[in-house]
Amino acid sequence: MYARRFGQIKGKNGFGGCSGAGRFTEILLRHGAIVHSLDYSSAVDANAINNGQHQNLTLVQADILRIPFPKASYDYVVCLGVIQHTPNSEESIKCLWEMVKPGGQLVIDHYRWNLGLVLPPPLGGAESLYRWLILKLPMKSRFKFVKAITDFWFPIHWFFRNYALIQRILVRLSPVHFYYSHFELPNRKMYYEWALLDTYDGTTDYYKNYRHESQIEKFLEKIGAKDIKITVYAKGGNGIEAICRKSDV
Ligand SMILES: C[S@@+](CC[C@H](N)C(=O)[O-])C[C@H]1O[C@@H](n2cnc3c(N)ncnc32)[C@H](O)[C@@H]1O
Repeated sequence: MYARRFGQIKGKNGFGGCSGAGRFTEILLRHGAIVHSLDYSSAVDANAINNGQHQNLTLVQADILRIPFPKASYDYVVCLGVIQHTPNSEESIKCLWEMVKPGGQLVIDHYRWNLGLVLPPPLGGAESLYRWLILKLPMKSRFKFVKAITDFWFPIHWFFRNYALIQRILVRLSPVHFYYSHFELPNRKMYYEWALLDTYDGTTDYYKNYRHESQIEKFLEKIGAKDIKITVYAKGGNGIEAICRKSDV
């Protein structure tokens, strides 16, 4: 999808910020880009297993705020699913922007602010309350706790899987990420696995920032970005996606 949007990336220099296990690294490599990538955590080891054999990949363990690659040298800088989990979103965007070469493009996404995320349940969603609780637990107990919660709530979500209204009510009680109406998976087991994985992801992240699309747009304008295109996703993705360009001079 992104390769299509970028146009021709073969032979171009791409910087993939915070690769995780490397799903976007893989796409960039598959389309012929020369990729420099990093991640702060041991996720780099997973990316090394998945993509490390590729001759066009340079992968390091590092902080997005101290990127150990040459500045202003990348045709494409891609950072998805990350910025909201850093201490300060704007500072992270600025560090990524410094890597884009004149004429190059930056692609980022960000969690989108909405009232339901910040109001306590039952006015807002239940996730924020569970997350607050779970982050108080010792690290080694968190997965067990999230699994117990998922094992409790998932059968209820599943039982009412064809009732959109009930799912809307459940979101105010349960932190479980339930994807039945979002996309098709082969079976119940797979929905459960996605639910467990993303419920853990959504309730144990230390930093979680939200921004309105106007804030992202204003910040990109402030740092001098051109041709800013913002897309807001109601379903799927992380909420806001932004693509922009650095001027040629
Ligand atoms: C939700 S994952 C997304 C990974 C990948 N971009 C993807 O979409 O599959 C967020 C990643 O950001 C990394 N991360 C968080 N803070 C970071 C920082 N300050 N510097 C570098 N990586 C960071 C985490 O280690 C994690 O692998």
